[in-house]
Amino acid sequence: MKATAKSPANIAFIKYWGKIDLKSRVPENNSISMCLSDLYSLCTVEFRKDLKTDEIEFKNEAVVKEKEKERIVRVLERVRKLGRVKWKARIVTKNNFPKATGIASSASGLSAVTVAALGALGMKMSEKEVSKLARLASGTASRSIPDGWVEWMKGTGQEDSYSKQVFPVDWWQISDVVGIVTHKMKKVSSTEGHVLASTSPFYKARIQGMDEKVRKIKQLIKKRDFSRFGRLVESEALNMHAICMTSKPAIIYWNEITVKVMREVMRWRERDLESYFTIDAGPSVHVICEKKNAKEIARRLRKIEGVKRAVINQVGVGARLLT
Ligand code: DP6
Repeated sequence: MKATAKSPANIAFIKYWGKIDLKSRVPENNSISMCLSDLYSLCTVEFRKDLKTDEIEFKNEAVVKEKEKERIVRVLERVRKLGRVKWKARIVTKNNFPKATGIASSASGLSAVTVAALGALGMKMSEKEVSKLARLASGTASRSIPDGWVEWMKGTGQEDSYSKQVFPVDWWQISDVVGIVTHKMKKVSSTEGHVLASTSPFYKARIQGMDEKVRKIKQLIKKRDFSRFGRLVESEALNMHAICMTSKPAIIYWNEITVKVMREVMRWRERDLESYFTIDAGPSVHVICEKKNAKEIARRLRKIEGVKRAVINQVGVGARLLT
């Protein structure tokens, strides 16, 4: 009754910001991402007859909020119900990167718990069903289930909102060099941000353009057209952050280093090195480039004062059971 899963963070090129249904996390629009090869969570779940409550241990984390534990317990409740099991579980989870800093820790963490819990009970489900289950824990977690380039379809409701692969891992050699600029957790969670999104006067206009953006990005990935792809990725990130900044109350996920890195990326592009940024709900900057340039981007990022780490990622695989 024990299993360990490894699941990646993912980076969205067309983002999920705003939900139709808050509780079941049905998004307003489809989103497109790739799984990250080098940023991940590892989670072990063991169901045991002798336990009175679920016990959760976060390795290497100084601060753990009660809410984070509750989210994990809710995953266990769902899996227990499906497997008709009453036993409580012991969970040990760890990330190889700082959580709540704009690197999709809920995506990797909660997809890993979902896959490990199903594995511990020996339950076999289709990728679609696992992705739906992970979605209930965190929207972006659904995108960490399939391998490679992934689309999360909004669907018509809870039953058909899930993620699937749109291109395989080896389709295109693109890297995401993540500049980690803080270890502090953000103040406003993305779950709260999603709720505020619709208070922005620009939200409706954003949503109206999403189907076309999703269509366009898939076409550019298919053609492997890096310049157009990068421009769209960057403008989409700014569009999402414009919604955050004009929500009521406003949310500014960036810090001074974030802006410094954004400006540097633009400067490198003008001068000699083509790359584009994208940013999730946090200050870390994801620099998107062709694989051949990833090492040089990482070298330059590390030279910027305030950048704590630069992690090179290739397109990676989705969640896996290790045992
Ligand atoms: C900004 O998945 O963290 O990373 O469904 O409430 O858990 P919940 O939200 P979450 O959303 C984060 C969205 C984003 C953009 C993206 O990855 O698409």
